[in-house]
Amino acid sequence: MAEERTPLQGGNPGWAGETGEYGHLTEADVRGTTYVGKRPPEGTSPGASCSYPYQVGGGRPDAPLFEGPYRERLDKILSRYPNRQGALLPVLALAQEIRGHLSPESMAEVAAALGLAPAYVRGVATFYTMYHKRPVGEHLVQVCTNVACNLCGADEVLRAFLAATGTEPGQISADGQYTVIEAECLGACGFPTAVQVNDRYFENVSPEAVPAILERLAQEAAARSSAAARQGS
Ligand code: FES
Repeated sequence: MAEERTPLQGGNPGWAGETGEYGHLTEADVRGTTYVGKRPPEGTSPGASCSYPYQVGGGRPDAPLFEGPYRERLDKILSRYPNRQGALLPVLALAQEIRGHLSPESMAEVAAALGLAPAYVRGVATFYTMYHKRPVGEHLVQVCTNVACNLCGADEVLRAFLAATGTEPGQISADGQYTVIEAECLGACGFPTAVQVNDRYFENVSPEAVPAILERLAQEAAARSSAAARQGS
């Protein structure tokens, strides 16, 4: 059988295959069609999407900020920046990780810890959508409805998550487990529809895949609670 050749070979001097270095690749390899759709169904590594878990479940709204191990993390963050203003974004992320969302009181505490004006901190926190100004469920489900995902049926995926969790966009489900919102581009446009649950990515999500994703999340949450109960007993 004749070797499969990309039509680009011989016709596009800018393509790496022209150098001979990548001549073994087929067009499918270059376009990614050999692996698109084969991403792990349990979601990809959080490290692929962000350098710190800016939204994780289990926030405690009344927890003290920046004490114990969190004080150590605050100091570590501060050591990386030339001034306290520069450290504001990761410190807000840390406060959200501890409490689950950023209330006006939390923003004021961040301002006090960094020696910044409360209005300045509030202006920054309210600018970025990754900071939650209201409580969210244990699992924050962000469905990308931007153009690439939208063309591939993101609206149906969003509706499937809302129907399965019994919520309207932004609401917390009755069991406290889920909040579903629309997101702007999640940076995974090659794998539509992209869905981010806390700090984990699910890609190539179809409406049919939604029950299995929610089931997986529920099983993991149950396993975490039993592990915590075992540790506490
Ligand atoms: S458009 Fe959905 S991830 Fe970019």
